Amino acid sequence: MFETILMFVLAYLLGSLVPGYWLGKYVYHKDIRNEGSGNIGTTNAFRILGPVPGSIVLLLDMFKGTLAGLLPLFFHSSINPMLVGLAAILGHTFSIWIGFKGGKAVATSAGVLLAYNPTFFFMVWGVFLLILSLSSMVSVASMIGFSFATIMSIFYYHDPILAIVAVALTAFVFYRHRNNLNRIIHGQESTIPFGWYYYR
Ligand code: G3P
Repeated sequence: MFETILMFVLAYLLGSLVPGYWLGKYVYHKDIRNEGSGNIGTTNAFRILGPVPGSIVLLLDMFKGTLAGLLPLFFHSSINPMLVGLAAILGHTFSIWIGFKGGKAVATSAGVLLAYNPTFFFMVWGVFLLILSLSSMVSVASMIGFSFATIMSIFYYHDPILAIVAVALTAFVFYRHRNNLNRIIHGQESTIPFGWYYYR
């Protein structure tokens, strides 16, 4: 029992690490929470700090999810990695380092999925890249990627825990993207220099 609690606490603490915020604050002397979309995730780090720090944030935000998803393996626990990963995703979105605020759950969730089922991860990644290459909007690609993951987990994988976590996460991701949704509806969502929509 103690080990299980420790595992969930560790996952939460891992998820709580905020590389986007720390890189901005300590290396570039910018608080990315006050610029661009105000998010501490990869897209805003790209936008405000540049492609290299943005890529570092993507890798670290994903890696903490992957590491959390692998904790049951290290602890010789039979608890489903998606559930442990959920604690890391909560840590990322409600981080102890920035007043229980945080990111939009995308990269850390992807990292958890990579630990749980690499094949499924690469399928979702493919859909994400396809939508991004059409829309040039990371928010659109993220929400459609999560929706695709939910549909696949229900109708293809027949894995109840994966399906429940996917449904809950997709609802949560849409909620966290409510400002993006508003901007998309009004044609004001920011694009990135990648894909058809940006260069049309
Ligand atoms: O991962 C977050 C992404 O989907 C949107 O980020 O900064 O454009 O709100 P942002």
